[in-house]
Amino acid sequence: MSTAETKLAIVTLVSSETGVSFDELLTWFETPKQAGHGDLAFPCFRLSKTLRKAPPQIADDLWHTLFSSALPVGVSGVKAIGGYLNFTFETGSVIAEALKRVLMEGASYGSNSSGAGQTVVLEFSSVNIAKPFGIAHLRSTIIGAALNRMYQKLGYRTISINHLGDWGTQFGNLIAAYKRWGSEYTFSGNPINDLYALYVRFHGVAKDDPTFEQQGRDEFRKLEQGEIENLVLWQRFIDYSMQDFKRVYGLLNVEFDHLTGESFYRDKMDAVIRELENKHLLTQSEGATIVDLSVYDLTPCLIKRSDESTLYATRDLTALLYRKQAFNFNKILYVVGTAQKLHFQQFFRVAELMGYDWVKDEAVHVDFGWVKFAGEMMSTRAGKVIFFDDVLERAQSLAREIITRENPDVANVDWTAEKVAVAAIVFTQLKVRRNKDVNFIWEEALSFKGETGPYLQYTHARLSSLIQKYGKTLPDLGADFGLLGEEEKEVIKLFELYEAKITRCAEEYETLILADYLLELASAFNSYWQRIRIITDDVELTRTRMQMAFATRIIIADGLRLLGIEPLERM
Ligand code: ARG
Repeated sequence: MSTAETKLAIVTLVSSETGVSFDELLTWFETPKQAGHGDLAFPCFRLSKTLRKAPPQIADDLWHTLFSSALPVGVSGVKAIGGYLNFTFETGSVIAEALKRVLMEGASYGSNSSGAGQTVVLEFSSVNIAKPFGIAHLRSTIIGAALNRMYQKLGYRTISINHLGDWGTQFGNLIAAYKRWGSEYTFSGNPINDLYALYVRFHGVAKDDPTFEQQGRDEFRKLEQGEIENLVLWQRFIDYSMQDFKRVYGLLNVEFDHLTGESFYRDKMDAVIRELENKHLLTQSEGATIVDLSVYDLTPCLIKRSDESTLYATRDLTALLYRKQAFNFNKILYVVGTAQKLHFQQFFRVAELMGYDWVKDEAVHVDFGWVKFAGEMMSTRAGKVIFFDDVLERAQSLAREIITRENPDVANVDWTAEKVAVAAIVFTQLKVRRNKDVNFIWEEALSFKGETGPYLQYTHARLSSLIQKYGKTLPDLGADFGLLGEEEKEVIKLFELYEAKITRCAEEYETLILADYLLELASAFNSYWQRIRIITDDVELTRTRMQMAFATRIIIADGLRLLGIEPLERM
């Protein structure tokens, strides 16, 4: 008997006892929220008016008359707990149900519509034009994209924004440097390296030469005023940089709904500054225009410099208000490193002072810790910044080594090594609690055996070859689920948790919960597989066990997809 049939039998019994119609009762039954409270609950307070009794009394009475001497088929226990009647189903049928649901729903297993009608804006990556893709931006990209996919799975409308760092005095500096030294560079191949070299060179000279520094500021002012020559240069810097960023986003399989950087707000800031003025929030301090935040015990938020140029915070404040108007979100998440905590507190508070109370509940700085590389310092091309490319290159060559060692017959080694390298990099960042630092250890991150992305890919690949070996089309819901034993239950009982894990990730902005769950599921299956032969001469038993393998693969593949990792068929 299926759990649905068991439920109907219970409803029929309760209906005949209480006189409440079957259809009505059907809507009263609930799924218990608390673990240990069984699989189905009947809330007795619904009857207290008509029966003129307290709910716990009703629960007790119903238990006595209906369930104290015999249990309905498929039910292993009934308990009256605090005004509820709680039913526990026989594990066998619950397990079979869970397995069938995964097989039936396939890749959409775990999805729901809890977010229907709600909009979440996710701002992540937010790389800086003319600078190589750094590791902090990488972590933002990885966390943001994963959360974005999870919200979609839960039925939310999501809007992903890459708030490019494409405005500010540094572009004046770059223009000044370009005008002085630009002809020495080719800007071919990977032009971002040349841009970065100009940036480094500017600062090298400007630190001893204030006139050059001033030149940078002048160039930015001209850019702000719309001078064509500078606008053309600025646009060229953006184009060069985007070429490179698009390659990285392609590798990570990340896309954005909007690539609206800081420059997008340059003609929108005036109105916000006027509003601040009208609301009497602006003060002058040492020539600059600020919003005093001492009521919040915070240092002031800088709105305009003494030379009238606007700042990072001015653009962020403008963007926040603009996005509320444009997208009417229920939540806006900023996935940005913890180093910028103060900045977010400041402009959020300014918006609150302006009277935008929604900011308190809806605007969240989803902050994260640093990424460190243990064991040895990475050699970078310049300075101490760690670049994505260097990390990827190194991870890829290690992955190639491991793949050729573990499985010499993999056909497309380079392609596979790239996917494994990305999996290692992505998973290391997602399986650590967000506010903790990531400690990247090369061999460990790439291992096929540890708690890694490659381990999950490897498990997926092994499951794929098992299914290939079995050779029959699956899923076949005709299998005999009665053959599922205790060993199988250990694996299948985890299936049911998938949806709740995704929900918790979305609620806590914490990807670690899903990452850990996938590791747990993979280990449970692998340990089962070590003890039990799946393909045997017993056709029926084999078929049932294969269903379980098939369902495990469905969840691992979908979970990896949510995290941004390619499930591999072979490796
Ligand atoms: N581009 C900035 C940086 O690299 C990050 C932007 C974060 N987002 C924001 N809305 N401030 O530091």
